[in-house]
Amino acid sequence: MTIETPADATAAKSGNAATDSFRNSGKLAKVDASTERVNLLASKLVKAANDIILEERVSYDEFNALKAWLIKVGDDGEWPLFLDVWLEHSVEEVATDHREGNKGSIEGPYYVPEAPSQNSPATISMREDEKGTNLLFQGQVRSTDGSALKNAKIELWHADEEGFYSQFAPGIPEWNLRGTFIADEEGNFQINTMQPAPYQIPTDGACGQLIAAAGWHAWRPAHLHLKVSAEGHELLTAQLYFPGDEHNDDDIASAVKPELLLDVQPAESGNGKQVTYDFVLDPVK
Ligand code: DHB
Ligand code: FE
Repeated sequence: MTIETPADATAAKSGNAATDSFRNSGKLAKVDASTERVNLLASKLVKAANDIILEERVSYDEFNALKAWLIKVGDDGEWPLFLDVWLEHSVEEVATDHREGNKGSIEGPYYVPEAPSQNSPATISMREDEKGTNLLFQGQVRSTDGSALKNAKIELWHADEEGFYSQFAPGIPEWNLRGTFIADEEGNFQINTMQPAPYQIPTDGACGQLIAAAGWHAWRPAHLHLKVSAEGHELLTAQLYFPGDEHNDDDIASAVKPELLLDVQPAESGNGKQVTYDFVLDPVK
């Protein structure tokens, strides 16, 4: 038996894991579109594509390259990755632009529900020799009227110091750098974790092929992923970013917003860094 390590990660492995994760997520069961709506959206999409072909005088060679590429996206399991990198940010904007509290950011393809839960203060599950800089992540969860949201739930997941996510790259313990944390009576939380590295979307699959062919780069700035929830409030899906990351201004997934930049400080404990970030949730109307 060969033991796989994160270095054995391939686009097809993470892509197929992300595809399976989406299939098992229950999100498909909620899709319910009327004929009118499908007609409207599908007609607009097809028209937009035809307009590009006519405007740019797309050739048969280019048309065939597109066909081959779309087939490869499926073969590599990269549909979740493609959609989350290039389109999800607009869907997120539409979904949250009514909010008075935090607006958040994209979920991305690597969320896994029901990570083991602990009461705050807590340390996220990690390997004994987990590499990187310790990060104390703390803050308070409030409602838009300023009241503390007691026992709010904070789900945190992020890449490791090498940019790999557990359950999507091989050889990493199942719940590594993933956890659910319950805030205290005042909505306060304190979570010990590790600072994640910048993340490069897989370069050896269809999406990587497009990026190389178009002369783009494959980087997302280092980020924490979060879902914050409390009774009677809208679920907040967010990402938080680290100041000074060279890709904060040109994230391939267009998912950075100024209000999502952390103010990272040296840790008071002397070990690593710490940061305070408060979340404001909108009541369900
Ligand atoms: C992708 C990966 C991420 O970690 C993320 O936050 C968004 C998108 C991706 O590979 O598609
Ligand atoms: Fe991510």
